[in-house]
Amino acid sequence: MSLPKVNPTRTAAWQALLKHFEEVKDEKILSFFEKNKNRANDLSFKWEDFYVDVSKNRLTTKTLRLLLDLAEQINLKQAISSCFSGDKINETEDRAVLHTALRNPNANKLLVDGLNIVPQIHETKLKIKAFTDAVVSGEKIGYTGKAITTIVNIGIGGSDLGPAMVVDALQYYKNHLTTYFVSNVDGDHVNEVVKKLDPETTLFVIVSKTFTTQETLSNANTLRNWFLQTAPSEAVAKHFVAVSTNIEKVKAFGISEDAIFPMWNWVGGRFSLWSAVGLSISLSVGYAHFESLLDGAYKMDMHFKNESFDNNIPVILALIGIWYTNFFNAESEAVIAYSQYLNQFASYLQQASMESNGKSIDRNGNSVKYQTGSIVWGEPGTNSQHAFFQLIHQGTKLIPADFIGFTQSLHGNQEHQDKLMSNFIAQTEALLNGKTTIEVLEEFKSSNFSDKKQQSLLNFKIFEGNKPTNTIFIKKLTPQSLGKLVAMYEHKIFVQGVIWNVFSFDQYGVELGKQLANTILAEFDTSNNNVTHDPSTTNLIAHYKSNK
Ligand code: F6P
Repeated sequence: MSLPKVNPTRTAAWQALLKHFEEVKDEKILSFFEKNKNRANDLSFKWEDFYVDVSKNRLTTKTLRLLLDLAEQINLKQAISSCFSGDKINETEDRAVLHTALRNPNANKLLVDGLNIVPQIHETKLKIKAFTDAVVSGEKIGYTGKAITTIVNIGIGGSDLGPAMVVDALQYYKNHLTTYFVSNVDGDHVNEVVKKLDPETTLFVIVSKTFTTQETLSNANTLRNWFLQTAPSEAVAKHFVAVSTNIEKVKAFGISEDAIFPMWNWVGGRFSLWSAVGLSISLSVGYAHFESLLDGAYKMDMHFKNESFDNNIPVILALIGIWYTNFFNAESEAVIAYSQYLNQFASYLQQASMESNGKSIDRNGNSVKYQTGSIVWGEPGTNSQHAFFQLIHQGTKLIPADFIGFTQSLHGNQEHQDKLMSNFIAQTEALLNGKTTIEVLEEFKSSNFSDKKQQSLLNFKIFEGNKPTNTIFIKKLTPQSLGKLVAMYEHKIFVQGVIWNVFSFDQYGVELGKQLANTILAEFDTSNNNVTHDPSTTNLIAHYKSNK
């Protein structure tokens, strides 16, 4: 079955939400806490090792009820079931969306175009495991007989961001192998990585679903040429493997069929870290940890698929996001993880969310008249507190924020952990409560400021508060809890796309720039300029050509 194609603004729930918004828009979150003494508990969700508190939001239990009505009226239940059962919900590309199948250890049968895909998933997992074990144990050797010590993942977008984020996030669980990621077509990126490589002990993993991506192929060719400066051509087979759907193109690059890890068109690039695209993850932390990551995601899948919406964490988070985007007109949302390990989490989420839901044509092919796709950004706490928190606390913009934290640290330094967590909790408290005139004046009492000075400073010291946050508290950062967290956001993004009535699994918006870059690239090498550009572009091309 295809996804429902309902214009959300035409539902009764949307109209009721518009009316309700007028009633609550100026209310303070603190007043909601006063009216409902049990609010903190009512609006917190405990699931496995997750504790998600959404009570510090500009909404009431009635708001949530109306948002849940919206989910019903959009027919979210049907959408979820279509997704998990392999219906071709990626209609514009005529594809199923089955990254969830990759992490389902119990499936026996899932048909895509009449073919059961489950055996190929298991076969590929066995291949990843065997290869990982051989590399990690040192059994797999390079062309001079030395063990592999270094992995280079060559890919971009979904073929880079997911694996790079996870390898960084799970560095505590890392084995002895060193892993690098090369993504940018900027030659300085690959050249900086090359400085650290030894051709005799490096394994190159080329990851490209299409095997046509300019950046990835340029970097792969550059690295192969560098490799061949010292190694004989037959050594390529020992040092290069690929993950792709495009077997012919990979073979043409010189990689033999047994060194190709398959990918399938029913896995979207930005949801592919669970497939062989995660090979660098498996190599870096070992196959058992890779499986735990998948297992965590599977647990979240089951929660998402089976839990009633009023207790369903990804659904609740998605609905809250819709409330801010479409009713409060918030333009962006921040994701602040209080863990340095999640340094790359926001960049990863940017692609997952913005490439999915940054669309303005609805599933009926019409222009939407409402906002879609929020801008996702963020940096880890506490660093971000010393960077952009000023704007969240005292700026003019409404920025709902997710705070992600772990009750236990990995290295067990309790003194640091207590400091980190006190900041984590204090920030959402500060954003909620703000600081009133009375509190500032009280504070002045212990200063030696003159009355005049106090008066002149007063307004600058006031914090309006009432800034919304979700707190996602997790016991400990493990491969499994990370799998749950990533899957939670994947499902949040899915729900929002369903409600916004957009196709979340294509990315036509990245094509135009690529096409024009190819045209301009060709012009760099010729003196004849047959192509006409706008005057600014013409000048920029001329400037580059005369200064390069
Ligand atoms: O940026 C567009 C995109 O198609 C992404 O969706 C994808 O993750 C990335 O390019 C890389 O594509 P490929 O894996 O085919 O090289």
